[in-house]
Amino acid sequence: MPSTPEAVTTTIRAQPLGEFCTQLLAALKTPEPYARIVADSLVAANVRGVDSHGVQMLATYILQIRNGGVDPTKAGHVTKEDGVCLHYDGENGLGQVVADRCTDHSIRLARALGVSIVVARDSNHFGAGGWWGEKLARAGFIGIAMSNACPAVAPWQGRTAILGTNPLCVAVPGTNGTSRWMLDMATTTVALGKLGHAGNLNQPTIPREWGFLDATGRPTTDTTAAQAGSPTPIGGYKGTGLAMMIEILCAGLSGGAMTTELPVFRTGGDPLGISHTFIAIDPKRFLPPGEFEGRMDRLVGLVKAAEPAAGFNEVLVSGEPEWRCAKVRERDGIPVPVKLWKTLSQIGTELHVVPPSAA
Ligand SMILES: NC(=O)c1ccc[n+]([C@@H]2O[C@H](COP(=O)([O-])OP(=O)(O)OC[C@H]3O[C@@H](n4cnc5c(N)ncnc54)[C@H](O)[C@@H]3O)[C@@H](O)[C@H]2O)c1
Repeated sequence: MPSTPEAVTTTIRAQPLGEFCTQLLAALKTPEPYARIVADSLVAANVRGVDSHGVQMLATYILQIRNGGVDPTKAGHVTKEDGVCLHYDGENGLGQVVADRCTDHSIRLARALGVSIVVARDSNHFGAGGWWGEKLARAGFIGIAMSNACPAVAPWQGRTAILGTNPLCVAVPGTNGTSRWMLDMATTTVALGKLGHAGNLNQPTIPREWGFLDATGRPTTDTTAAQAGSPTPIGGYKGTGLAMMIEILCAGLSGGAMTTELPVFRTGGDPLGISHTFIAIDPKRFLPPGEFEGRMDRLVGLVKAAEPAAGFNEVLVSGEPEWRCAKVRERDGIPVPVKLWKTLSQIGTELHVVPPSAA
């Protein structure tokens, strides 16, 4: 009889998965509301197919907490507020908790003043930038979220990993009350976490278009070789430029750690000292209420009207792949790699938290 291939994923529904993540963090002395903020952001990324920044990150956060690298009891505090500008000290709290507070301030200031720029230092990994950009867009603003990250990428024409994969998200509100266009990207060809996800799926190779280099600096499609190597800046020197722009707007402006002043290893027990920046712009300060949202619907329609190129049957806009995936995964559940699920379940056993059953 032919042997059945071993499953590489197990399907878990979003709600119990979020509950499990919340309980794991709470078992490590994270106040429950903070644990829920982190779990919501991670599971939402999975729901949208952004598995690089879903529950895969939780294993890293837990290692960080256990090694004393992050203080899960802290949410940070405002250090300075001056007109539309707000400076925030993350006090080495969980990145999502800091980002949640900062985006609340960003919304408050932009409602009152039309625009806001909130800059945080001494924070941690905030997950998918899209979660924060969309929070601002859902509140009616053009939302921009950025973060620096631990050094992992050589600058263009360089060999040494100096820059982070520094994410950038820009989300805009549409007439449907949520975001209508959402660009959410690493400034490397793909997020580093995509490689981790491929590893968790036991995929021996990765697409060449992901642009990974091996330890000697040569392009590779071998998953293990890429794990020993590094990602490349998106679009060559332009990606390095974008990563620098984010470094400037985040760490440069916050007074936080820049590039190699951040530790290389996220789980080594050293505080990461990550900086974020959130910008909210109120379109109603420029156009009559509702006009910008209508224009965004029209803009998306204009772009999607392009004739599809050979091999494609439609043009997509940023955000669409994720929103479409969300419809499927909200209905069918999230395919979590078995390898990752074993790791999280083992952590559950250690912390006396029972993992949910497969859907
Ligand atoms: N916190 C951190 O330190 C950090 C660092 C890097 C990346 N990230 C996160 O990693 C996640 C993944 O980043 P990525 O760069 O691998 O994303 P990606 O390459 O999968 O997608 C990038 C963008 O392209 C859009 N897109 C995808 N296919 C498209 C198509 N066919 N047509 C039009 N648009 C399309 C997506 O909607 C998305 O907005 C993001 O959520 C990002 O915020 C976080």
